[in-house]
Amino acid sequence: MTQDWWREAVIYQVYVRSFADSNGDGVGDLPGIRSRLPYLADLGVDAVWITPFYASPMADGGYDVADYRAIDPLFGTLDDAKALVDEAHDRGIRVIVDLVPNHTSDRHEWFQQALKAEKDSPERARYHFRDGRGDRGDLPPNDWESVFGGPAWTKTETADGQWYLHLFAPEQPDLNWDQPEVRGEFLDILRFWLDLGVDGFRIDVAHGMVKADGLPDVGTPGHLKLLGTQALPFFDQDGVHEIYRDWRKVLDSYPGSRIGVAEAWTRSPERTARYLRSDELHQAFNFHYLTAEWNAADLKQVIDDSLAAMTPVAAPTTWVLSNHDVQRHVTRYGSVARARAAALLMLALPGSAYVYQGEELGLPEVLDLPEDVLQDPVWERSGRTDRGRDGCRVPIPWTPDGPSFGFGDGGSWLPQPADWAELSVAKQQADPNSVLELYRSALRVRREQPDLGAGSEVEWLDVPEHVLSFRRGAFTCVVNFGPDTARLPADGRVLLSSGGYATEDADVLVPADTAVWLARP
Ligand code: NOJ
Repeated sequence: MTQDWWREAVIYQVYVRSFADSNGDGVGDLPGIRSRLPYLADLGVDAVWITPFYASPMADGGYDVADYRAIDPLFGTLDDAKALVDEAHDRGIRVIVDLVPNHTSDRHEWFQQALKAEKDSPERARYHFRDGRGDRGDLPPNDWESVFGGPAWTKTETADGQWYLHLFAPEQPDLNWDQPEVRGEFLDILRFWLDLGVDGFRIDVAHGMVKADGLPDVGTPGHLKLLGTQALPFFDQDGVHEIYRDWRKVLDSYPGSRIGVAEAWTRSPERTARYLRSDELHQAFNFHYLTAEWNAADLKQVIDDSLAAMTPVAAPTTWVLSNHDVQRHVTRYGSVARARAAALLMLALPGSAYVYQGEELGLPEVLDLPEDVLQDPVWERSGRTDRGRDGCRVPIPWTPDGPSFGFGDGGSWLPQPADWAELSVAKQQADPNSVLELYRSALRVRREQPDLGAGSEVEWLDVPEHVLSFRRGAFTCVVNFGPDTARLPADGRVLLSSGGYATEDADVLVPADTAVWLARP
């Protein structure tokens, strides 16, 4: 692959706890991923992004890191990580690891030192400690709210009773990125993993590390709902870009093409593009695409806006339908047929696509997990009103039988629905009409057809309402969002279809919620 492998790469997200369990303890691990590399190679993905596997008390599924250079024993050892990276490379698969720089775990030695240290000490300065408001300091220092519910501040049990900031759970104190020591530490952590051979980093809360000077109040209760529309003093601050300029220098100092991928929730594709200027990061998740509704007009708009926003910075646009934080798109869109069509639409667009483990099996969200198994901190933090994200994190079914459908020899940390036997990899591999075979075929065609993935433009065709169709060189994608079968001139020979279709004279008939790929000779 070229130096620019990432520009059109299909990147598969492995949620490590739920992918494959090698030791029967009910939790996925690194040797489990290793054992499934042949599956990933056969599926045809270019890279994997692996969610955090570092030493962690698991207050937020590993996004609370206690030691950035150690593997949690639940997931394996550093040797396992090295072997995984090497074997993935042998199979032509690149490896992106997940870096969590906005916050540490409250068990991180820095935070433990800060709790023991004096007010205004260098140890406290690595985080955001403040006196509380009110006569007795019993009120939070400002009105910021936690993404997981409740105030973004917790009062410590220390003699001085200071509060500390956590934009997520109280077990995830925010680091103070004004401190050169914090910056230096993360440059070193980047080098540690680059030396081990990783091809890049997915950067957690990439829009959060820098806070507005003086930590000013927002002034609006419920302000996290404004995230997509209004500036907030703790997200997407201009100062954050300086960090990525430093990081880019480190990435570029290594051989090959090592990349940074921003998990940046911003208010517009233009704001996202700022993370991808030529001296910053390489890719950012396209959450504007992920959150669009299943209809032709909205998706066309977001595709156009996303492509236009990336043009000035010459970065590839990315496309994503699901991840470990959102409801799976089979459920969100309302049917497997739509999810199949959505896959062909996404994989036909220019740029890089992210596939979340299990979407290639057409897994739905598990909506009825018993309350006593829920582990997402959102459940408790919301006063048990929001069930959180566990429903998209249920372990993968590999075989139609066994204690956890082949996930491991023991059970699985979240129960799998009984009917997932039918959705297992082994069942789908034997079925040419399965979602798995659709993904495999689509990825094969994408590799064979140079017009797919590459470039940065789509040529929209004039088609009936509720239909989208675009050309990319000799290739055409048609998606019918409407309730009725659409009839339109066949722009070549059908290569692949997400459902049934017919050809008649020189036309192609595309049923509701179906996508078709065609190519001219
Ligand atoms: C985004 C991650 O994807 C999510 O799972 C996590 O809870 C938050 N960042 C906090 O680290």
